[in-house]
Amino acid sequence: MSTILVTGGAGYIGSHTVLELLNAGQRVVVVDNLDNSSAESLRRVERITGKTVDFHLLDLLDRAGLDLVFKRHQIDAVIHFAGLKAVGESVQQPLRYYHNNLGATLNLLGAMTDAGCKTLVFSSSATVYGDPERIPIVEDQALRTTNPYGATKLMIEGICRDLAIADPAWRIVLLRYFNPVGAHISGEIGEDPRGVPSNLMPYLMQVAVGKLPKLTIFGNDWPTEDGTGVRDYIHVVDLALGHLAALAKAPTLPGCTAINLGTGTGTSVLAMLHAASRMVGRLLLYLFSQRRAGDIGICYSDATRAKQLLGWAATRGIDDMCADHWRWQSRNPDGYATSTR
Ligand code: NAD
Ligand code: UFG
Repeated sequence: MSTILVTGGAGYIGSHTVLELLNAGQRVVVVDNLDNSSAESLRRVERITGKTVDFHLLDLLDRAGLDLVFKRHQIDAVIHFAGLKAVGESVQQPLRYYHNNLGATLNLLGAMTDAGCKTLVFSSSATVYGDPERIPIVEDQALRTTNPYGATKLMIEGICRDLAIADPAWRIVLLRYFNPVGAHISGEIGEDPRGVPSNLMPYLMQVAVGKLPKLTIFGNDWPTEDGTGVRDYIHVVDLALGHLAALAKAPTLPGCTAINLGTGTGTSVLAMLHAASRMVGRLLLYLFSQRRAGDIGICYSDATRAKQLLGWAATRGIDDMCADHWRWQSRNPDGYATSTR
């Protein structure tokens, strides 16, 4: 049994990963400042698994507090989810994004170095490919970003690469997620965005529960089969399991390794809307509008490297993603605020 520190473990992807780690018999320590999440997610994870999480309400910008966590626990490896993630907000508040995402990561890497813990799995993003030069996207292609959020991911990747060059004892896996959606099959944990969602799936689900009137589809003139944007949606449970595979294989991956976590398949906005409508049992209303500023047309992964290096591949399809996301949303229309169970 290992002890894994999960930063940002109360959040959407973090809570699903904590659940799978506990199910796999690992000890889990979570550090989260609850800036974009609720401790209720972890209480529910404990209820589902029948196991406990050691939760520290702490900001990663607090280096002294972080050092205490490493003193208190013998941490074997870290999964680093903590960060701010809204692209539009990062354009409005760049300093907040650079300060939080870079400051938190520098503190974490410093505390890990001091504690002699040198195995890290980092949440990167397909955003580091910008408007991709080739589809499907392989890991080696050119990296570029178009907004401060993406720039923080690219900079953190660079910091990790430099660190692994300076000290070959590090084992760092940079996981580049495509579009995480869905929820745990229990319907007890899921994505709980604050305010009006900017991403497709949470928006669609709020249309489905009647909180929003209809989906606005950004453009029907993209060079795709039906003219709407294409993305590589990946079930959050598959994504969580990808982290367990990365932890298991990290000892065999020297230095710093970037790996896509996607399905390798693209799905259009309209195809997603129709799949969600089938699960909800009625056609979800939509209208077309012009393209969203900064959007790209087509983005999906080449998932070969994950298969080769991690022995991992996504197994859940679009219908599972929609059914599971809908179960969570319909049982928790106001997210974790719905219930105090
Ligand atoms: P989330 O907002 O649900 O989770 C992030 C967690 O980090 C939150 O619980 C938040 O409170 C915490 N946090 C933020 N700053 C912190 C700090 N300074 N100290 C302590 N805790 C802090 O987001 P998510 O969707 O679960 O994403 C997790 C990671 O994956 C993020 O780094 C995100 O950039 C990355 N990612 C997400 C997506 C996506 O579409 N959801 C796609 C690609 C990459
Ligand atoms: N879309 C709509 N209407 C909406 C929301 C989205 O039509 O209300 C469309 C978009 O135009 C796009 C698709 O649905 O074609 C997916 O959009 P999302 O906003 O859900 O996801 P993106 O791929 O645009 O962005 C996501 C994350 C970013 C990350 C990027 C690349 O939000 O943080 O993936 O990984 F940078």
